[in-house]
Amino acid sequence: MHHFDAISAQLAQVRAGHTLPRDLYVSDEAFRFDTQVMLKSVWLYACTVAHVKKPGDWYQFELGRNSVIIVRGRDGAVRAFHNTCTHRGAKICNQPTGSGGRLTCPYHFWSFGLDGKLLAARGMPDDFEKAQNGLRPVAIENLGGLLFVCLSDNPPPIDRARADISAQIALYDLDRMKVADQYDLVDQANWKLVMENNRECYHCESNHPELLNSLDGNGFGKGLPEDNRDGDATQGEAAIEAMRAHWRELGIYRDLVEFPDGWWHRVARINLAPGAVSQTMDGKPACKKLIWPHGDREETSLSVWTQPNSWHHFCCDHVVTFSVMPLAADKTLLRTSWLVHEDAVEGVDYDPAYLSSVWRATNEQDRLLAEYNHAGILSDGYRPGRYSNEEKLVEAFKTFYVDKALEALG
Ligand code: FES
Ligand SMILES: [Fe+2]
Repeated sequence: MHHFDAISAQLAQVRAGHTLPRDLYVSDEAFRFDTQVMLKSVWLYACTVAHVKKPGDWYQFELGRNSVIIVRGRDGAVRAFHNTCTHRGAKICNQPTGSGGRLTCPYHFWSFGLDGKLLAARGMPDDFEKAQNGLRPVAIENLGGLLFVCLSDNPPPIDRARADISAQIALYDLDRMKVADQYDLVDQANWKLVMENNRECYHCESNHPELLNSLDGNGFGKGLPEDNRDGDATQGEAAIEAMRAHWRELGIYRDLVEFPDGWWHRVARINLAPGAVSQTMDGKPACKKLIWPHGDREETSLSVWTQPNSWHHFCCDHVVTFSVMPLAADKTLLRTSWLVHEDAVEGVDYDPAYLSSVWRATNEQDRLLAEYNHAGILSDGYRPGRYSNEEKLVEAFKTFYVDKALEALG
């Protein structure tokens, strides 16, 4: 089957509580393995339903050599297809996004319906069967408005992630949101280092002044009391119970979901800084039109993290969503999108520059950190290092990676 002997040897050296051996981060072989084997065996976050809002809207999702067209049909359903023409294989969609009544190949103009059926192919022999030449489907699932794709013919289970995530984000109703701003950042670092950086806030205090304006204490990874088991509790039991009672009253309390039994999702309602109601520079809503029903007094936001490539924050006025995709061993695409209520008017209800300012600044800081990390791992002096108590979720990411890699290698 797959011959990734060097990868197997490196995986065998992985130690609990430690970073990975160098070549798993930096080698070209690991990049080939990740994009052609490991990442094809799992569900990957692609985009939200708001990215393909109307029938005919499509979004191109790329993983290594593979490209997937995510498209909304006339029936409102979102489907995914391999972005390769069934004639001679040309790539059909060659822009990041687009919209139209059909998917037309630029080479000889075969055209496909939004449901993937081949509609027109000129001058074909009599025995050519159009019905046999539709676009080849890719597995896609909608988790409360977050779209995940899987390039395997046998995708792993997704039911529990769907239930846990959609139960909590339904409140924000992504179906009635629109993309207000989006930008791509390319980090000169391996995608696993970009992910590891996201899974801890050990670095936050010294690096993220803008983010910490609106986040309480150590922020992510330490938001809930349950989350704080091994850290320094910032709140007494009574305060925690009062907070839970208040959340229950609003109907927004659920237990922390933290990568349960081999699953790949984490959902947590976290405290914002006192007085802050949104992840913005001044903690105030960035959009006047709110997306949730409880007003702008609630000093919490909801966050979702998934293995191996996404995280998302839901505030009362906007949603910000991140996808991570490898481009090369030392190059990673971080795509950030900000969503607001579909009726919100730019310039009146929101200013995209203000809406995105915290995370643009934070992403830039994180880019540098991931790049320093990658550069240092290239050194002959690098040895796998020990994770701190505040890096348990980094270990969880690393373990997910190693487990899926071993499974994929059989
Ligand atoms: S390759 Fe697409 S129409 Fe020929
Ligand atoms: Fe960070």
